[in-house]
Amino acid sequence: MKDYHVLVIGPRRGLIDELRERRIPFSLWQERFLFNVARGEKSVTAPLWSSPEKIREQVRKSFPGSRFTHVIAGTESAVLPAAVARRQVGARLSNAATGSRCRDKLLMKQYLTGFGIPMTRFMADTDATNAEQVFAALGSPVVRKQRKSSGGKGLQLLRSPEDLVQGKTGHCILERFVNAPEASVESFVDRGRIRFTNITEYHRKGHCNFVPAVLEPELKKTLLALNERVISALGIGWGMTHLEVYLTERGPLFGEIALRPPGGYIMNAISHAWDFNPWAAFLAMELGEAFEFPLEPTAYAASEVLYPGAGRVRAIRGKAQVLDEQGIREFRLKLKLGEILSPRAGLGQDTGYIVHASATAEERLALHERITKQLVIELDPVEG
Ligand SMILES: Nc1ncnc2c1ncn2[C@@H]1O[C@H](COP(=O)(O)OP(=O)(O)O)[C@@H](O)[C@H]1O
Ligand SMILES: [Mg+2]
Repeated sequence: MKDYHVLVIGPRRGLIDELRERRIPFSLWQERFLFNVARGEKSVTAPLWSSPEKIREQVRKSFPGSRFTHVIAGTESAVLPAAVARRQVGARLSNAATGSRCRDKLLMKQYLTGFGIPMTRFMADTDATNAEQVFAALGSPVVRKQRKSSGGKGLQLLRSPEDLVQGKTGHCILERFVNAPEASVESFVDRGRIRFTNITEYHRKGHCNFVPAVLEPELKKTLLALNERVISALGIGWGMTHLEVYLTERGPLFGEIALRPPGGYIMNAISHAWDFNPWAAFLAMELGEAFEFPLEPTAYAASEVLYPGAGRVRAIRGKAQVLDEQGIREFRLKLKLGEILSPRAGLGQDTGYIVHASATAEERLALHERITKQLVIELDPVEG
């Protein structure tokens, strides 16, 4: 075996399990303390800075003189730190510009527009000098979101020119609203080539993902071609990508691409739908190793992300019934009676999840509907 020495920035459970399983030594840079490292390795808890200068300073301070063969980003905010750190610690190098373009929605969209990738109209909020003109160009509502974010955090729908003037930050992108179902394409990339793809249907945005999606062959082809053009335009050499698209009546529109494994327990659903460990595959891609991917899915899987909303938990019903279902593969509910929940800040916030698998797409849909009916979390309103 090669002498790997890995620095993980923004660790994820599945990746850490896989590194430990393979006995690959690793150090960590994490935002909050989540994982331990072995003796002789270093775990640093510090913000994942978004400026290259601050990232460099952090690496100099935290890992002085350390050498790593590979730096792996597990989360969205780790993508740029990883691209920068690779240069400092002597690791396998990626393109730093690609890292910025995958992190910043405005740079990403400006760049990909040059490659003819279809997407909804957008502009920088710093260019929005005349509010009436913005609404004339983008229609209503105007979508405003942080250039660097994930999980739908801080997304606003602006309905009037007055809304636009308020809260202008200079760190946002403005977009024309797209009213269409969404899907994502997960890709494993090795030496500049896509080795495996999965398409996910956002059956209920933020709550239920179907893996794999069931699509007309033509649409599937168009989606995969779009995915390939984006990955190639960005010059992504290796790793895992998660591309989001809007499926409009006039064809797919590019939403965004992330250079990291997806959230929403899509990784868990992939493992049950395709019968392989996507974390092992992700690690293989990062290390430049070959990986044997399956050719066909073996089941129709789904992840159900549980978040009941804001309030005090009064009752949890139907858990036993759900657990009795044949198709349940994973079930975790992190809720206590009496617990107070705030409104969901982003899609990364959940109070549990279910992953299930069925033999057919029809059975999957039926199981999803039964779970939705059976599992009831009752809330009492909380004053204030
Ligand atoms: N222009 C838009 N039109 C309609 N919905 C949007 C638009 N932009 C974002 N959204 C909704 O918000 C979600 C999150 O936005 P996205 O651009 O994916 O940012 P992130 O996931 O990084 O927060 C999307 O999946 C979509 O549901
Ligand atoms: Mg997104």
